[in-house]
Amino acid sequence: MNVEVETVRTVEVPTRMVHGPGAVSRLGELARELGVTKPLLVTDGGVVAAGLADRALQYLENAVVFDGVRANPDVKLVGEAGLAYRAAGCDGLVALGGGSSMDTAKGVGVEVSNGGSILDYEYGGKPVTRRVPPLVTVPTTAGTGSEVTLWAVITDHKRGIKFNVGGTPLIGAHVALVDPELTLGLPPAITAATGMDALSHGIECYTCDYHQPFNDAVALAAIELTARWLRIAHEDGSNLEARTNMAHAATFGGLAYGTESAGAAHAMSQSAGGVHDCPHGALTARVLGPVCEFNAPAAPERYARIAQALGADVHGLPPLEAAQAGIEELYRLTEDVGIPTMEELGFSEEEIPLLARIAFEDPQTVGNPREVTTADYEEIYRNVFSWGK
Ligand SMILES: [Fe+2]
Repeated sequence: MNVEVETVRTVEVPTRMVHGPGAVSRLGELARELGVTKPLLVTDGGVVAAGLADRALQYLENAVVFDGVRANPDVKLVGEAGLAYRAAGCDGLVALGGGSSMDTAKGVGVEVSNGGSILDYEYGGKPVTRRVPPLVTVPTTAGTGSEVTLWAVITDHKRGIKFNVGGTPLIGAHVALVDPELTLGLPPAITAATGMDALSHGIECYTCDYHQPFNDAVALAAIELTARWLRIAHEDGSNLEARTNMAHAATFGGLAYGTESAGAAHAMSQSAGGVHDCPHGALTARVLGPVCEFNAPAAPERYARIAQALGADVHGLPPLEAAQAGIEELYRLTEDVGIPTMEELGFSEEEIPLLARIAFEDPQTVGNPREVTTADYEEIYRNVFSWGK
């Protein structure tokens, strides 16, 4: 059955996108237009040390700064930031940073508008029924796409997993202010990891069961731009053209999600990311190739189209062979930008049974284009660990 013609689908993008080099200078007027008189600037120490918080604050009146965001934000952190918001009497949010700052701000927004703890709003639990307060997302990395996604990913240390909140436009930012100049100073390893995250959003959203034409278009754009520009941004961080195109790739990758989720690579990286604290993009990139190899026989035409977007020469090849050429290109890109191994990310092969079990339990397993069992995940993880050895 062709899902695209048999099913009524919706596309809703609640976020106005303001983008381009120097866009951050619009921050003050955008906050004012949203009626914000006292924003909470949600950020982290690294962003402050890089001078980016000062840069944003010069355009922002009357802001209260919360700079306590840590990578992979947890339930407690969201609660603390929410407390800071209420204590200072804030009436809006500006998230300045990577996915962690943006997801923390979304979490604060959900708590402030809907009450209770972010833990209550795990997808499938209590629904988010009220829109977050005016929220401007200002990414300082290029990859997570959180500036436009309808999701926040929060860590629950008690269960050792990350969980999702959202899947509704009510959590989406009011404005995404995307200024590639803010990413000029990013170190190569972060450029690589976040850029590969954008690519993985494109690949997983293009192939997942929920794909639809709108998502297809932006997903392919994310893949093409990453394949064309990530190596350049990684080698020469000061290349503004590469940074600008990677910023677009990130936003396209975020839009590719829509209200849906990704697939097995994100099920693996999201669940494993709750076991060892490590960069989400690097972990996703490490598992993505073996996941694509597993999935390709279930959707060869889609993976063949991805191969074209990655720039692989697929002329005259049947779909599955074209798909394989694309996967080889994906492996090359992953190596070229120096994505760490599983061991370097803190994992060991002894953990495979645990990692496979929690990946299977992750909700993003459901949208994967090929049915995947716990045993399949164990096999995929074995391939992930043996890659390059
Ligand atoms: Fe991701």
